[in-house]
Amino acid sequence: MRATQQDFENAINQVKLLKKDPGNELKLKLYALYKQATEGPCHVPKPSVFDLTNKAKWEAWNALGSLPKEVARQNYVDMVSSLEAPSESFGHEKPADSHRPGYETLLVTSEDGITKIMLNRPTKKNAINTQMYHEIMLALEASGKDDSVFTVVTGNGDYYSSGNDLSNFTDSPTDGVEEKAKSSAVLLRNFVGHFIDFPKPLIAVVNGPAVGISVTLLGLFDVVYASDRATFHTPFSHLGQCPEGCSSYLFPKIMGPAKAAEMLVFGKKLTAGEACGQGLVTEVFPDSTFQREVWTRLKAYSKLPPNAMRISKQIIRNREKEKLHAVNAEECNALQERWLSEECLNAILNFFSKKAKL
Ligand code: COA
Repeated sequence: MRATQQDFENAINQVKLLKKDPGNELKLKLYALYKQATEGPCHVPKPSVFDLTNKAKWEAWNALGSLPKEVARQNYVDMVSSLEAPSESFGHEKPADSHRPGYETLLVTSEDGITKIMLNRPTKKNAINTQMYHEIMLALEASGKDDSVFTVVTGNGDYYSSGNDLSNFTDSPTDGVEEKAKSSAVLLRNFVGHFIDFPKPLIAVVNGPAVGISVTLLGLFDVVYASDRATFHTPFSHLGQCPEGCSSYLFPKIMGPAKAAEMLVFGKKLTAGEACGQGLVTEVFPDSTFQREVWTRLKAYSKLPPNAMRISKQIIRNREKEKLHAVNAEECNALQERWLSEECLNAILNFFSKKAKL
């Protein structure tokens, strides 16, 4: 899955040959990845507020933070291959790393027996909005059934994910706040259920900071590789909320109740090294070699007999499944109440009003 300079140049040419305008949002993402891949992090001054186009381009590039050039190049190639096929005259074969079309918030690819689900809202730090919740479930259902041997979840840009998109709370509900809390709890329960029931080995490639549900779900992954730039933060109490993703049960088992409480109750942010020491992360890699080392290892694992791997994963997980579904239901019930609490509403308003003042 490593994009070479030639792949990158082909992708640049492919963009020029696109028959259909991919739209401004995608063009901005491509621009940002191109700049990051060729020049590295954005250090140019921010254009004035009146220079709308250049300001938008600057913001998209700047949002990629310190994403390494080679990762930006790979993401650029992935993104281009998800667009429409170039005109016949271009004469290229369909790329081996073929994209699953139809996702707007994800980049889903399959190669070397590995399905990669990449969270793809880098300008929002891969916050999970309602559409992304649905698309992740669809992608998990599809990859659970396809011929890949395992599935990887990772993030595009400098974040793995900033967790639940807090604007999910601020959309004005048409059926009233109580109905909205109820339907959100149903969605969350279904979403987490997809991770509990996932039939093949599930691997998290945590490329950068992880917040909220992107952290709590890690207990349901079979292996978690992290860049040393990653951090793990669950600020539930700060937001007037409580844990989800079965973390209230799995984290105390993984790291002991005292360490779990420091994270889940008091919102202590862990470094990648600390998360590894506490058993939440399998292994930490230097950011500069993270992608290369992890994908080399994953490609080697993908050659192992697929049925043996699937059955081993199921034997490890199956005896806990019923318990995990019960925990998931209990956590979602508690959250449904929390979302209606004054503590939670004030915390969400604070987040958005702080941003508005900047
Ligand atoms: N929900 C909604 N929007 C989010 C988000 C989230 N979870 N995380 C990031 N964003 C948005 C920001 O609002 C901002 O949008 P804008 O460009 O339209 O203003 C954009 O993503 C970039 O984030 P920004 O805050 O400017 O980046 P930063 O590097 O200063 O901070 C975070 C990154 C993740 C620390 C910060 O955005 C944050 O605290 N987000 C909330 C995380 C959270 O509480 N998640 C839920 C846990 S239960």
